[in-house]
Amino acid sequence: MSDLFFIRQKYLTYLSSLNHKIVPSAPLVPENDPTTLFSSSGMQSMIPYFFGEAHPEGKRVADSQKCFRADDIEEVGDNRHTTFFEMLGNWSFGDYFKKEQITFIFNFLIKELKIDPNKIYVSCFSGNKDLGIDRDDVAANVWQELFSSVGVSMKIVANPEEGLQDGRIFFYGEKKNWWSRSGIPANMPIGELGGPDSEVFYDFGEQTSDLAKKIHETEGPCHINCDCGRFLEIGNSVFMQYQKTNAGFEPLAQANIDFGGGLERILAAYQNQPDVFKTAAFWPLIEKIQSFTNLSYEDDANKKYFRIIADHMKAAVMLMSDGVFPSSKEQGYVLRRLLRRALRQAAYLEIKQETLVELVPVVIDIYTDFYPKLKDQEEKISQILQAEQLKFSRSLSKGLKEFERMASQQNELTAYLAFKLYESFGFPLELSLEEAQVKGLKIEKNIKELYLEQKQAHSNDSKSVLKNKFKSGLADQEEMSVKYHSVTHLLHAALRQVLGESVEQRGSNITAERLRFDFSYPKALTIEEKEQITNLINGWIKADFQVSKQTMPKSEALKSGAIALFVDKYPDIVNIYSIGKNPNGDKRGEDFISRELCSGPHVEHTGLIGEIVLAKEKAVADGIRRIYALQKSS
Ligand code: SER
Repeated sequence: MSDLFFIRQKYLTYLSSLNHKIVPSAPLVPENDPTTLFSSSGMQSMIPYFFGEAHPEGKRVADSQKCFRADDIEEVGDNRHTTFFEMLGNWSFGDYFKKEQITFIFNFLIKELKIDPNKIYVSCFSGNKDLGIDRDDVAANVWQELFSSVGVSMKIVANPEEGLQDGRIFFYGEKKNWWSRSGIPANMPIGELGGPDSEVFYDFGEQTSDLAKKIHETEGPCHINCDCGRFLEIGNSVFMQYQKTNAGFEPLAQANIDFGGGLERILAAYQNQPDVFKTAAFWPLIEKIQSFTNLSYEDDANKKYFRIIADHMKAAVMLMSDGVFPSSKEQGYVLRRLLRRALRQAAYLEIKQETLVELVPVVIDIYTDFYPKLKDQEEKISQILQAEQLKFSRSLSKGLKEFERMASQQNELTAYLAFKLYESFGFPLELSLEEAQVKGLKIEKNIKELYLEQKQAHSNDSKSVLKNKFKSGLADQEEMSVKYHSVTHLLHAALRQVLGESVEQRGSNITAERLRFDFSYPKALTIEEKEQITNLINGWIKADFQVSKQTMPKSEALKSGAIALFVDKYPDIVNIYSIGKNPNGDKRGEDFISRELCSGPHVEHTGLIGEIVLAKEKAVADGIRRIYALQKSS
């Protein structure tokens, strides 16, 4: 048993003993959440329950959630940043609060994993008068008492920027100890929820590298949030209790707990190993990459390349296993960036690009004990990777030549040129930036924003993504996406009625503007079929059918005729949504027209939706079609 598996299992067993229901990880691409491309924290699928909706498994839930953070792509290369990780999470939906939560985490780290308490430091929120939120002395005092019970005294320090000062509990402001999906309170949209948090850090001991010295010279003395490498954040308890309103922060109807701890980081602390790439989560990959080259990971000049390849290949495999394909848009574009960046780094380590596919089974080996389905996907993932590699290798050398030519003519990489390099040779921006750095070119100011503008100007789809991600209000967006979510069920039912029951949903994605739906079917739809499907859906909308929700054991739900996208993904107790004349009836056709395992939310009755039209339909993979539906403009 690997230590990775051991810690994950230990956490889930421990939380289960504290009456938490263990739920499966949501997929890396969130279903029906237009606000984000990837699951980047464990709490994302839990939002409705913080607001008071009943979770089908009760008020205490825990999991190990697969996460991907695209924002961290460029951070990868040091000893701790990774794009894919698992987050151990536990939640209280209006049940236990601060004291219990801090006690659980203390006991998990100190009693269950037996981590040395002398190596643990914590941070708490220093309060904010403008927000009307006090300094979190309650949390600090609970920590103090717990540590004193194992003979460790925890001095509280209110000014961490002055250094450690023999302290072990530090108060920080909202930049460090406030959590919301959009960061600090000022950046939160109206309607968003957040709260103060308390973080746990592991101490790897004083760092004496040149880099660490430089950081201390420029940024001041070491403290627990310092970047020198001494301290690693391993867990974060968010006291999710406020909602931002026009009138400021209002307490939610219930006080919630949202704990998230990076599994790979807890593993690093458990092994007292400051380099996560040397833990069981990555080491087999690094070893395999070493076997492709004469260069060594231990040589500091190479570490960065080994780490980028290992991280990006792992993340790419996990994304592909959740249904992402390389493409020029959205999640597919991010996957393409990862793959191309990894392929480019291979050259720095004198490795042939086509060798990287051998890392696929190594990633799968690391995770297969917890995600057994991965094994069945190995061949498919390897094929996609090989196809992408072939495509890229053809343009890489041409692109590099073009880069040389450009560098000899001008000394600056502009957004325009970077976009041209992408358009003609498939160079993602990071790659051009890296090449520019190697060649010592200047880089245009704000190149990232300008590059994105170029890219958006060339793609209507990404334009709409940008609009809905940054501009429209959360409330409007939610209303539209709830409607589209219900249309997803109607569309699924209509496709099955017209094309046959072998049609199965393969994915969906909703923005405020449209709904995208992937399904299994071997050929293009005819005009007549599309018309029939549209008429069925609009007929159901017009009939103003009721949408009803029931909670029941999974086996019972399946027996009642409910369909499920990935049966294993659902917990034992599930919600089903039925739509029809008599949605709670059990006879297909007369009573309900759609019944699916689903976590909602949905409109209450179909009349709220308004007429829809089907837009383009195309193939996305062998045997998989993609269709778009949107509200008919009035
Ligand atoms: N949401 C918090 C985080 O991502 C804790 O789960 O850090």
